[in-house]
Amino acid sequence: MSKEFVESIIENKKNSLNESIEILHSFCPYRVCPLGAHVDHQLGLVTGFALDIGTTFDFFSTDDGEIEVYSENFDGDAFGNINDEFERQYTWVDYLFGAIKTLKKTYSITKGIKGILKGDILGGGLSSSASVILTYLKAFANVNGIKLTSPELINLAIDEERNYIGVNVGKLDQSCEVYCKKNHLLYLDTKTDSTKLIPIPENMPDFEIAVIFSGVERKLAGSAYNTRVDECKAASYALKDFAHLEYGKFADSYLRDVPLGIYQQYKKQLPHTWAKRAEHFYGENERVKKGIRAFQNGNLTEFGKIIFESGRSSIEKYETGSNELKALHEILEKTEGVYGGRFSGAGFNGCAMAIINPEFRDSIKETVRSEYLSKFPDLSNKFSIVFCKTADGVGL
Ligand code: GLA
Repeated sequence: MSKEFVESIIENKKNSLNESIEILHSFCPYRVCPLGAHVDHQLGLVTGFALDIGTTFDFFSTDDGEIEVYSENFDGDAFGNINDEFERQYTWVDYLFGAIKTLKKTYSITKGIKGILKGDILGGGLSSSASVILTYLKAFANVNGIKLTSPELINLAIDEERNYIGVNVGKLDQSCEVYCKKNHLLYLDTKTDSTKLIPIPENMPDFEIAVIFSGVERKLAGSAYNTRVDECKAASYALKDFAHLEYGKFADSYLRDVPLGIYQQYKKQLPHTWAKRAEHFYGENERVKKGIRAFQNGNLTEFGKIIFESGRSSIEKYETGSNELKALHEILEKTEGVYGGRFSGAGFNGCAMAIINPEFRDSIKETVRSEYLSKFPDLSNKFSIVFCKTADGVGL
């Protein structure tokens, strides 16, 4: 087959023998995390909105297990059969192969898929990787008659990202892209898995979410992401030792297990770098609690101010944020009509996000663009800014 042939089947809903064929359509949103950055891998508290931009997949199943997935804007098209071994390709194709391998650990997969995958703006920081993974997991589960609960879907997506792609992510991205609901803020405790969807209060002023692509693409694999996770774990281990607590296995040690009081008592004994990472963790958990109260009260100004503080802590204490993203943070802090903003996601390039007053949409676009490009003129062809609304989690 060819891309045009798969497209024509999707459009006509018929195969070459003119038999009618069931075409499925799925959409998985991207996400932003206004508060609760870099704490999910330490079982902290997080928040998130799903966006009305994301991954769209039109597909149909194949009885012989054949796979043929073309992509409009992700690099790499996927060909093969569900019985293949699937070597890593280091393109977006890995997410598809990883989904099959991950599902196969528990389930029998016999049917393949042919289809076309499309993604909205790329660049990173919006969790497009989790969005693509969830899309594929849901699609393969569906055509193979596997019913996955939301927690199962989330855990499979995390398993794939950690064990196939190789990034020790927490649960933030997958949970947002599954649980979020339009016009609600997701509040998730990644230790207990308790989730709350907080409706936008009636007294809250109207807002939109600006997504600003720095022009430099991001990849977590190979970044300092895993090193930061290890620094947090090392801090938790050391603090437990200072306080004569049971510390168990290193892999199962998290800052969330160390009470704030113990951290305060022993922080001076920690190596300087580890103390900074821990400072971010405890500060961010408090900011999430404060931010949730502000959001529930409809106080967007306070909510936004806390988002800016979270961004500062990510830059100063957690020490992430490329030069481009740090510049964007500074610009957003002084742009009229921006309630709050920070880099979206881990901060290894990619996008920043901001909660904005829609009345200032045009001037924000103009100011951020011109101030940013005066510092990074070479990025003028890649830089972009779009305004999004909140959306529901993944759907088929
Ligand atoms: C990436 C990871 C998430 C989370 C964020 C930072 O998006 O995939 O698990 O750690 O970074 O908050």
